[in-house]
Amino acid sequence: MNMNIAVIKGDGIGPEVVSEAMKVLDAVAAKYGHTIAYEQLLMGGCSIDAYGDPLTDETVAKAKKADAVLLGSIGGNTSTSPWYKLPPKKRPEAGLLKIRKELGLFANLRPALLYDQLKDACPLKKEIADKGFDMVIMRELTGGLYFGERKTEEVDGVMTAVDTLTYTETEIRRIAIKAFDIAMKRRKKVTSVDKANVLDSSRLWRKVVEEVAADYPEVSYEHMLVDNAAMQLVKDPAQFDVVLTENMFGDILSDEASMITGSIGMLSSASLNETKFGLYEPSGGSAPDIAGQNIANPIATILSAAMMLRYTFDLDAEADAIEAAVRKVLVEGYRTGDIMSEGCTKVLCDEMGNLIAERV
Ligand code: IPM
Ligand code: MG
Repeated sequence: MNMNIAVIKGDGIGPEVVSEAMKVLDAVAAKYGHTIAYEQLLMGGCSIDAYGDPLTDETVAKAKKADAVLLGSIGGNTSTSPWYKLPPKKRPEAGLLKIRKELGLFANLRPALLYDQLKDACPLKKEIADKGFDMVIMRELTGGLYFGERKTEEVDGVMTAVDTLTYTETEIRRIAIKAFDIAMKRRKKVTSVDKANVLDSSRLWRKVVEEVAADYPEVSYEHMLVDNAAMQLVKDPAQFDVVLTENMFGDILSDEASMITGSIGMLSSASLNETKFGLYEPSGGSAPDIAGQNIANPIATILSAAMMLRYTFDLDAEADAIEAAVRKVLVEGYRTGDIMSEGCTKVLCDEMGNLIAERV
């Protein structure tokens, strides 16, 4: 197969971790007889520096032409970087939100899985970690609070900020269908997370999820309030299979879920639209504090590349090979600093990439 992949390395640790994922993809291509054409694009802070814009329309057009996008991370230190002196629409994050919207990437899958080998890195009590967990957070990605109208203005002499949270039935239905479809391929359980005791958008969410659930009699589902979900994630994460939720709740809960896997450096993600096209990125941020030191954990990005092979290119065996290689390296005791524990061998970012590529 010939794969056309747009690569956005981005800012901070992005270039380091994406280079390792490309290394692993190249190893897969060589082993299975595929060819990959990469086109490097700019987004985020580096695009602001080059073009004065976090994401140009030309870049969007090029990304649209690719089969898939592999993304590192964008953004810098929000208190010290000059990018954050710019108006909000010109900051790095605006580029990320724009590419999600322009490419219609409404479904964000964030799998959180506790590897046996990383139980020591899990901050939860041993008896909870020992039970393990394997869930997918299905986050709605192009609606809700992050895309509603916002403004800050003086009202009766008082500075007032407004953000609007809107969801249509259509937006809720399409993400709910994705969640139930994925649940059918897993343990057939959906936990839909909302704040229906307060928010209208959540009450509509609940109603539409119930309608969709009726079409999936084999899938058991439940509703859970978001504050309770935050608590249940640390109390009993093993109960979750597919967690379906709106944009902001998913943003927050997926960071929490990543932390209990041992490190945010382990959490991959796929952002999908209605076609085979997808954008694949680690769930973690640009980590400007450790950028350029070759110490970041590239595993989340490497696992995101595996998701790309699985969801965009339907190459399940190749995706399995990457996931097995990651597992092997962990079994052999290699760790980057963030997941290091006693008796293991500490390796740098590029060494981790080499180890995984060799084992593909
Ligand atoms: C994420 C990030 C982004 C988001 C930010 C950088 C806009 O936190 O992908 O989770 O909130 O979606
Ligand atoms: Mg986030």
